[in-house]
Amino acid sequence: MAGIYIHVPFCKQKCSYCDFCSFPNKSGYEEAYMACLYQEMKLRKEELKEMTFDTVYFGGGTPSVIDPKYIYGAMKQIKTCFRLSQNPEITIEMNPGTVSEEKIKLYTRAGINRFSIGLQTAIDSQLADLNRIHTARDFAHCASLLKGRNFNADVMLGLKGQTLDDVKKTIDFATLAGASHISMYALTVEDGTPIYTDYLNGELPDEDTVAYYYEEGRKYLEEKGFKRYEISNFAKEGKESRHNLNYWARGEYVGFGLSASSFMNGRRLTNTFDLDEYMKCILSGFLPVVDSEEVDGETAKFEYLMLHLRTTRGMKIKEFESLFGSFFASYGDAYEKTKAFMTLEDGVLRIKDEYLYVQNSVLMEYMR
Ligand SMILES: C[S@@+](CC[C@H](N)C(=O)[O-])C[C@H]1O[C@@H](n2cnc3c(N)ncnc32)[C@H](O)[C@@H]1O
Ligand code: SF4
Repeated sequence: MAGIYIHVPFCKQKCSYCDFCSFPNKSGYEEAYMACLYQEMKLRKEELKEMTFDTVYFGGGTPSVIDPKYIYGAMKQIKTCFRLSQNPEITIEMNPGTVSEEKIKLYTRAGINRFSIGLQTAIDSQLADLNRIHTARDFAHCASLLKGRNFNADVMLGLKGQTLDDVKKTIDFATLAGASHISMYALTVEDGTPIYTDYLNGELPDEDTVAYYYEEGRKYLEEKGFKRYEISNFAKEGKESRHNLNYWARGEYVGFGLSASSFMNGRRLTNTFDLDEYMKCILSGFLPVVDSEEVDGETAKFEYLMLHLRTTRGMKIKEFESLFGSFFASYGDAYEKTKAFMTLEDGVLRIKDEYLYVQNSVLMEYMR
């Protein structure tokens, strides 16, 4: 089974930390962009006709900022061009400042059955500091519209002035509002974003503080019945994101839209990040792919290991070996050096709970 990703690159305004491919003040482009997106699907229809897709994910940018008729239209086009499984998981990302009852109704009619809301923090002064367009109350309103539905809340760690109490308040706020899934990300500070100045001025919590917040946040979430299944992702029983689990299993996916990437038949394709170029390509009947790379055997092997070890499910040695040959012939030395940080039980290799957050440093040993 494979996944479909749809990129919607529009936002009301740019958040101070965000380096994603998304533009504020481009609302005039929405209709033309979405028409191109439908056309891109048509261009790939023949190539993908043998595949069955089990998940669809509308990400961004802010898919909820555009008129919901375009999301409905995209789902219609997906169903026309591609084969979906019987019970697909269909997710949309939403910013709490862009949501209405009518939008959610139309998303539901389109088949959307999972929602992912960017909360970040329940502290209004911190939201304002991040240049977010919403308050905590807007999140609560959005959650009330999704009562009883399957939804995620994004939470960020490492914000200016953030205390452990703020982190716990945010978790309480999201879980009491009914979230069945929490993504808890440590802030990544990218050069060129406004928040980089705060970082240079030493105004953000340091790495050790963030690691402490993460560990305490993890325990707090687990007390509330949210099980960690990947470094940054926690879910109530059965509410794990199937779309993301497919990424971490190194499964195949197809991306449509600006900056979207696809991974199929061992090849990774990346679309252009330039909005004009994207539309010009599609209108001339070409795919907007700017990079196409055959993933070599050594890289594939490492990716397989690295992605599986991000999850608490870990990696089945037998499955690795059916694809890449003996695990110990490939990684015996690295395993010897790192086995204190891992468990190998019943043929499943996992990073121990207490080291998952620092898995990057464990995996360094496996890089060649
Ligand atoms: C595309 S946004 C979610 C939908 C919507 N655009 C919003 O922000 O509400 C994806 C999520 O990635 C996270 N994110 C974005 N930039 C980040 C950064 N630099 N560091 C950590 N998390 C980040 C945020 O939690 C954000 O909610
Ligand atoms: S709303 Fe989401 S995608 Fe848009 S700038 Fe903010 S974090 Fe980035």
